[in-house]
Amino acid sequence: MPGYELWSDKERKEINDVLETGILMRYGFEGPRNGTWKSKELEEAICKTFGSKYAQLTSSGTAALTTAMSAIGIGYGDEVIIPSFTFVASFEAILSVGAVPVLVDVDDTLTLAPGAVKKAITSKTKAVMPVHMCGSMADMDALIAICKDHNLLLIEDACQSIGGTYKGKHLGTIGDAGTFSFDFVKTITCAEGGVVMTNREDIFIKSDGYTDHGHDHLGADRGADLHPFIGYNFRISELHAAVGLAQIKRLNEFLSVQKRNNEQLRNILSQVPEVTFRRVPDPVGDSCSFVSWFLPTEEITRAVVTELKVQGILPGNFYWFDNNWHYIRKWDHLKKGITLNTLSESHKAEVMKHANKDFAASDAVMSRCISTAISLLWTEEQIKEKGGKMVKAIQKICTFHKTTV
Ligand SMILES: Cc1ncc(COP(=O)(O)O)c(C=O)c1O
Repeated sequence: MPGYELWSDKERKEINDVLETGILMRYGFEGPRNGTWKSKELEEAICKTFGSKYAQLTSSGTAALTTAMSAIGIGYGDEVIIPSFTFVASFEAILSVGAVPVLVDVDDTLTLAPGAVKKAITSKTKAVMPVHMCGSMADMDALIAICKDHNLLLIEDACQSIGGTYKGKHLGTIGDAGTFSFDFVKTITCAEGGVVMTNREDIFIKSDGYTDHGHDHLGADRGADLHPFIGYNFRISELHAAVGLAQIKRLNEFLSVQKRNNEQLRNILSQVPEVTFRRVPDPVGDSCSFVSWFLPTEEITRAVVTELKVQGILPGNFYWFDNNWHYIRKWDHLKKGITLNTLSESHKAEVMKHANKDFAASDAVMSRCISTAISLLWTEEQIKEKGGKMVKAIQKICTFHKTTV
């Protein structure tokens, strides 16, 4: 998800605007900032580009998730349903507001399996949080219907799917709240940053205050602001927002290259009959930052990963099943409930109970999945060469497997 790959004079110019004023903070200092408000400008651009009524920038995607949780009213004892395949930030945000992450299985969309969500609902469930992993989306119609039937809130972790859509709406703008990450390896980057998007004014006002120590931001004098509730410092800086502002203007350029490169590689991989692809509920809306593909068994997949490594072409191909950040299997700290702050015994017990469930259905999907990250810098020739080598490696393993069974 490489916004950083196409770093340019446009980013340098936006940063220089801020350096000229010397005002690196997003609030206050009206006189010396001389009309330069990069964070505000980026929030307006986010609303316009993605079709969200409100946008609140944050210092990271993790901060955006935590802010969304608080602004939506999730707290002690509440349960939030999330997928077993995500990034650790999803459960960190839930834990940080005192709630319990209820992990459930994913299906071949690589996101929440609607049937597993239904089964996990209890009287304590407050929200469902699909995570639109690897540039593509969850089955939103099914999840919206479940949330409606059970009166649950819907929060979208769209940190990895900037520019993806579902039935014409941008991912992250469909639920009660949605988040993007603008960290260094996302489709567009601020270096570090994130955003909470929502169409609900109450959630926006709370997000606005929560990210700045509870300030109400109602007057021009920051020192005279009231604090209707307790907040924290999850502010973005003007320097980071400046980078994002340049990048958002280039989003369509990034997405079109990403889609073109994705299609070329996917076409090459699809020559192999043993390769199948991730199910995408709305293929038109895939942001195409990854090609995610399956092999018939875990054994074959592991052998292909080893072969790619031996040939020196593994970088950029992710076998999430063995990954420490993204899949439940390796989250020992969560499974053991290891936190630096003391959790109540009952909270810790609930967290551990859900983290140690049987995820055989997820294992069956994730153990056969490889995701190939799409670079914006690849030439047509390089994709042909890379794809050709990958095909040969896969065919070698599949042929060996056929002859030995
Ligand atoms: C799905 C998902 N959620 C949340 C985050 C957290 O974003 P950040 O790194 O900006 O805190 C990430 C970052 O990789 C992510 O992939």
